[in-house]
Amino acid sequence: MEIKVNIMDNAAYFKDKVCIVTGANSGIGYALSEELLNRGATVYMLGRSREKVEEAAKKLSRHGDRVHPLIADVTKQQQVETAIRETAAGAGRLDMLFNNAGIGGTMQFETATIDDWKNIIDVNVWSVIYGVHTAVPIMLKQGFGHIVNTSSIAGLVPPPFQALYSLTKFGVTGLSECLRYEYAEKNIRFSVICPANIATPIFQKGKDGTVYNEIKIPEDAYPADKTARYVLDQVAQQKGVIVVPEHPFTEQWRLYSSGSKEGEEQFMQMARDRRAAFERGGNYY
Ligand SMILES: NC(=O)c1ccc[n+]([C@@H]2O[C@H](COP(=O)([O-])OP(=O)(O)OC[C@H]3O[C@@H](n4cnc5c(N)ncnc54)[C@H](OP(=O)(O)O)[C@@H]3O)[C@@H](O)[C@H]2O)c1
Repeated sequence: MEIKVNIMDNAAYFKDKVCIVTGANSGIGYALSEELLNRGATVYMLGRSREKVEEAAKKLSRHGDRVHPLIADVTKQQQVETAIRETAAGAGRLDMLFNNAGIGGTMQFETATIDDWKNIIDVNVWSVIYGVHTAVPIMLKQGFGHIVNTSSIAGLVPPPFQALYSLTKFGVTGLSECLRYEYAEKNIRFSVICPANIATPIFQKGKDGTVYNEIKIPEDAYPADKTARYVLDQVAQQKGVIVVPEHPFTEQWRLYSSGSKEGEEQFMQMARDRRAAFERGGNYY
């Protein structure tokens, strides 16, 4: 089936659009919010901590009444539903939902507890299900909408020592891609962002979300603002899978998914390097 794409230019795609971004007080979510605002959208910045979300919204207050803080814990169905429904009712519609909130989970499989599994699935998978489950009926009723879920490169390829994280992100990629085809002829678009090493506090966070400033963000990580600009350009083109940065990760995805020897060796080497790093007691990167 050929999906018919009605491509507008970038500016028109976002101008005056009502958008919700989850995990908007930090990292990629903050950068997406800022870039959406720069492109003329109205943005509801959703996060779980009122203090952090209001502080983030304040930093963007130059955009006036197009910036709104929105408080919800994305692991709580009721809170996600209320936030989305009330926003859509108040604004008169919901043009775009960015299900972006998420946590990392890099560890040796044998050290992960069942609570670690439950927690990462709650934050990274159930949050997206709650968001999509609430937004699709609203978008069907209004006859349009675009849902953008944040997965990861680990939702396309299997980085060793990221089994927990990768499970959640393959889920997000699969959900987004199935629904992209299912709703294509209902005028609801789906995109899935697959970032790799973006410079955000995610690298500094412990299991419980505590930020350890002494842990450094990798120096070669890609800037969050450039990520947001690239992603929104692709969203405006109604692209399905958006790998960022494109190079070298699109190639890594191709090498892995084609079953090539080179791809196999790349992931074997990654496993050896990461195991050695864990055994030294350091970070894997
Ligand atoms: N950075 C990367 O290299 C990278 C690579 C691949 C994929 N990603 C994905 O990109 C997304 C954004 O991550 P990031 O790198 O920007 O990390 P980040 O700076 O740590 O941002 C994560 C955001 O999610 C929020 N969040 C976490 N749990 C939540 C909950 N229960 N309810 C509401 N909000 C919650 C955080 O809020 P608090 O500030 O309150 O914790 C924060 O605003 C995630 O889905 C992540 O998996 C990132």
